[in-house]
Amino acid sequence: SAAEKGGWSSFMAKEISEEPEAVAKTILGRVHDGLVDLPEVTALGAEVLRGIDRVLIIACGTAAYAGMVGKYAIEQWARIPVDVELAHEFRYREPVLSPNTLVVSISQSGETMDTLMAVKYARERGARTLSICNTQGATIPRESDAVVYTHAGPEVAVASTKAFVAQIAATYLLGLQLGQVRGTLSDDEARGLVAELQEVPEKLRTALGVGERIKDLAHWMANTRSVLFLGRHVGYPVALEGALKLKELAYIHAEGFAAGELKHGPIALIEPGQVVFVLVPSPRDPRSLHSKVVSNIQEIRARGARVIAIAEQGDAAVLPYADEVIRIPLASPFFEPMLAVVPLHYFGMELAAAKGLDVDQPRNLAKSVTVE
Ligand code: G6P
Repeated sequence: SAAEKGGWSSFMAKEISEEPEAVAKTILGRVHDGLVDLPEVTALGAEVLRGIDRVLIIACGTAAYAGMVGKYAIEQWARIPVDVELAHEFRYREPVLSPNTLVVSISQSGETMDTLMAVKYARERGARTLSICNTQGATIPRESDAVVYTHAGPEVAVASTKAFVAQIAATYLLGLQLGQVRGTLSDDEARGLVAELQEVPEKLRTALGVGERIKDLAHWMANTRSVLFLGRHVGYPVALEGALKLKELAYIHAEGFAAGELKHGPIALIEPGQVVFVLVPSPRDPRSLHSKVVSNIQEIRARGARVIAIAEQGDAAVLPYADEVIRIPLASPFFEPMLAVVPLHYFGMELAAAKGLDVDQPRNLAKSVTVE
């Protein structure tokens, strides 16, 4: 009903507006003395946590993209190899698992059948299982050895938004906790990262300010048949998430690519007028990925692409090449995905709205897929 939407035009609009709170509430109470304190995780025992030699993240849909972002952070901070697997691909082979494998499932609903069956499978084969879940007491957390709840609040719109940013925050808390226990992060490093994580909600409030601009863009693009998304490092899963939203909501062809893969195939798709969103890494990125992605923009622009760059405040290098520049607040590389996804969530919603489609209940989809 209109009352439940709290004055918003759709649940999705309301839920995007709740992205700052989703992250804030997921962090709340989990930081003590500037360090991460997740008793749900430390209860597994320091010995066990130090012995983990592999993290395997399993999920479906948007939750899997949050897991892909988490992979970069957990590897960097805890120095444990991390793989991300779609739950339905994981289960139907004979995956190699050991008691030193930590299987981390991510699910908003906690009821996705494929994810649930993958968790049970992993558990039966002796792996430790930890669930990141947004629904108290759901089946997946009940079937797991440990659970870290996201506190995004109930998500009603079929396309996941606020749960995504909360899931990223939860994987970061996990990565920091593991890094602290395993000694791969000094207290100073951990405190610095925690402080940046705590700044994300405020930056998200600023990021929400692009809503009107995106609405205009979407109206102008209502007849677009195909949109590509390019990202690199933690921007790559964000590109995948942006593309998924367009498929789910606007029913158009959309694909996300790792920007470095462009010359290995996707660049052949670029023809005049092709719309490409590019997630531009910060110019302060220590791996100098910024200049590589700016080169990608030049390459596709030279072939006639219409480039919409998502770049941090003050990044002037993209201006000569991009047709549109959408700004996000300054943040260090790991904290950009939660901000950069905001314009993409808006874009999916606004393109669907511009086409007169039902934003909350897209055709053929269910909020929670409880069958195989
Ligand atoms: C469905 C929903 C998606 C969601 C996915 C995983 O496909 O439409 O929005 O990302 O399930 O759901 P979960 O509840 O496991 O996060």
